[in-house]
Amino acid sequence: MATVECSGLRKCYGSHEVIRDFNLSIADHEFVVFLGPSGCGKSTLLRMIAGLEDITGGDLLIGGTRVNDNDPGERGIAMVFQNYALYPHMSVRQNITFALERAGDSKERIAKRLAPVVESLGLDVYLDRKPTELSGGQQQRVAIARAMIKTPEVFLFDEPLSNLDAKLRGHLRVEIARLHKTLKSTSIYVTHDQLEAMTLADRIVLMYQGRIEQMGTPEEIYSRPATLFAAGFIGTPNMNFITFTVQEGRLRDGTLDLPAPEGVTGHVTLGIRPGAVEVLDAPAHDAIPAVVERDEFHGETRLVALTCGVQGLMAAIPAARKLHEGQNLFIRFPSQSLHYFNTDTGRRL
Ligand SMILES: Nc1ncnc2c1ncn2[C@@H]1O[C@H](COP(=O)(O)OP(=O)(O)OP(=O)(O)O)[C@@H](O)[C@H]1O
Ligand SMILES: [Mg+2]
Repeated sequence: MATVECSGLRKCYGSHEVIRDFNLSIADHEFVVFLGPSGCGKSTLLRMIAGLEDITGGDLLIGGTRVNDNDPGERGIAMVFQNYALYPHMSVRQNITFALERAGDSKERIAKRLAPVVESLGLDVYLDRKPTELSGGQQQRVAIARAMIKTPEVFLFDEPLSNLDAKLRGHLRVEIARLHKTLKSTSIYVTHDQLEAMTLADRIVLMYQGRIEQMGTPEEIYSRPATLFAAGFIGTPNMNFITFTVQEGRLRDGTLDLPAPEGVTGHVTLGIRPGAVEVLDAPAHDAIPAVVERDEFHGETRLVALTCGVQGLMAAIPAARKLHEGQNLFIRFPSQSLHYFNTDTGRRL
């Protein structure tokens, strides 16, 4: 078991800086998820921690020891890659147990570790096949099994579920969470899927352009996004944003007229999640007229595109409630559900 400490970590490819002054302390046993859009540097950072990429600057400590210059084999890590590389000439069984055999573990010990891992991943029936005789999703599960069978200090996962169908992804998410509960190995999990991040993470590190945009528990980031980027990235359906210029302490656009946060001037972006928009059939105190543009059925909920004066926004309502295009109704923004941001800096107000 181990802590992981990133102190001022940097990575440059030539003059292109892809990881910038990255500072993060990961506690022993903690499950941290690096979340962010494609190209933000998640895999690069994970590969730096694994020892597969040189570190341009800063210090990396695992278990309190500086490991910047240590080989991957000396870092006590097991990694599942985005592009799993299985040995084509070995059977599934050999692929999974290879590292343990090389480390000189006894046959009995290996068999004892193998059984629960292949069972939890549904691989028992494929043990004697070669990787080329498996589907992409099955191959990915072999790659996960290969890491799970070890007992490393730190588990590193790079989008291990990206090639799987939704049902299998949900199943394996639960397996990974269960594995973490049993082994308690410190884990870093990279994904651009916010659902995976929200369900697995003790703490999410939201990344953008090689930097930490925000870190916190899933609840903290969801309920108090620190920036416009964090607000727009976390939460499905996406948060609505409405921009205003503050006039006499009010946010006005001809239709909307809301109080501005105290002492704030300039450009303000108001954020509200679709589920928080109140949709009313009749006029009410503080309610504003709106028109239904489009209505999407999403199973449990209905996602409704509304126009409200010059603004367009989405509301999520229970699916049982029927609306029709062109329908006139009223909406209201509960004040406790509003998020205010400085439009120019993107920071939460
Ligand atoms: N070997 C390389 N040489 C030059 N640039 C690279 C190299 N590897 C990655 N990059 C760049 O570094 C940035 C970060 O890439 P990285 O693979 O870490 O992104 P990511 O967050 O894992 O994205 P994805 O979600 O698509 O996997 C990208 O802009 C990428 O183009
Ligand atoms: Mg990646």
